[in-house]
Amino acid sequence: MAKILVTGGCGFIGRHVTEELLENGYEVRILDAMIDQVHADAEASVPDAAEVIRADVRDKAAVKAALDGVDGVLHLAAEVGVGQSMYEIARYVGGNDLGTAVLLEAMIDMPIRRIVVASSMSVYGEGRYETASGEAQGLVRRKGSDIKAGRWDLQGPDGQALMPVATDEEKPVDLASIYALTKYTQEKQVLIFGEAYGVEAVALRLFNVFGAGQALSNPYTGVLANFASRLANDQPPMIFEDGAQRRDFVHVRDVARAFRLALEQPQAPGHVINIGSGQAYTIAEVASLLAEAMGVPDIKPDILRKARSGDIRNCFADISKARELLGFDPAYRLENSLGPFAEWVRSTGAIDRGAEMRKQLEERGLVS
Ligand SMILES: NC(=O)c1ccc[n+]([C@@H]2O[C@H](COP(=O)([O-])OP(=O)(O)OC[C@H]3O[C@@H](n4cnc5c(N)ncnc54)[C@H](O)[C@@H]3O)[C@@H](O)[C@H]2O)c1
Repeated sequence: MAKILVTGGCGFIGRHVTEELLENGYEVRILDAMIDQVHADAEASVPDAAEVIRADVRDKAAVKAALDGVDGVLHLAAEVGVGQSMYEIARYVGGNDLGTAVLLEAMIDMPIRRIVVASSMSVYGEGRYETASGEAQGLVRRKGSDIKAGRWDLQGPDGQALMPVATDEEKPVDLASIYALTKYTQEKQVLIFGEAYGVEAVALRLFNVFGAGQALSNPYTGVLANFASRLANDQPPMIFEDGAQRRDFVHVRDVARAFRLALEQPQAPGHVINIGSGQAYTIAEVASLLAEAMGVPDIKPDILRKARSGDIRNCFADISKARELLGFDPAYRLENSLGPFAEWVRSTGAIDRGAEMRKQLEERGLVS
């Protein structure tokens, strides 16, 4: 039976990955620092069958011990949050980049067959765009002056409207936040290491992951979790800009399966692979679907008409590569999964820290 180390295995995605591996006959060891921002309000419930080592991924001796007897590594440990990364810079770079560096150094001379790292759609910056006549665009970015003036949609060089289309892995990255920069560095470190040391390496670029077990009280991650915490406390979800921005929501069980497939499939090594649902939803649409699922359809979102620094307008996944290389086929759709998600939210007593998050960002001039 293969033994797998899951770093960050006590986190939202890590716990589902752990379950997926155990259900499929793997032995699992977790290394997790149980950071306060994620674990302060609730004890992480990981399956008894998994061995848990509580340590920081920057602690080389602990990581060496955790790697003992392990065949594969799934590296999910990270500080997670775009907005917060813009002012807690050392914390994000330290936890994510130095953390990955220490893990890889500890892997030298260890017989690890494969490593899969959790990267993020945030590395793309804006997703792919084309003109109304179907002409593909290269890198596009919003100008600060347009955002300030409330022109949130993307425009071509001649001011023509640009349409968002599904984003594939060939889209050049455009790093617009410190978080995105650290995720890109993590994926590059892992792929470069794999090439140099003959370790099979895979990077999964996850889109917006949702499902039971999300850190509802951590206002820096997960738009669905933020909205759910607001609604559970009879508060309107806060939407930056106008709510027409589009994202791809992928169920955490699908993501967990993708990690197992990335560990198993022979064609995966050396690749960066999108893991999304392949469907796009506007943020306003998501807020209203969720309010309905939570039984409070009358709570309308608070459309702030302000932009958050580092945010992008549209990005949703082209998952052809995941289908081809991993045999990945999403089993869940957002609109069919919000009922169980809402039930879980209601059962957890979410604390709403949305206003606190907004204040933190506004005080630092990161909202305009
Ligand atoms: N949730 C999403 O929508 C999403 C999207 C794209 C990528 N990702 C990536 O997936 C991974 C897991 O995300 P998540 O949503 O489960 O986050 P999470 O915060 O729930 O879990 C992260 C876990 O890592 C642990 N951790 C953090 N820093 C650590 C350190 N220095 N040493 C050891 N453990 C540490 C935390 O205690 C936590 O248990 C992250 O790498 C994240 O960047 C998540």
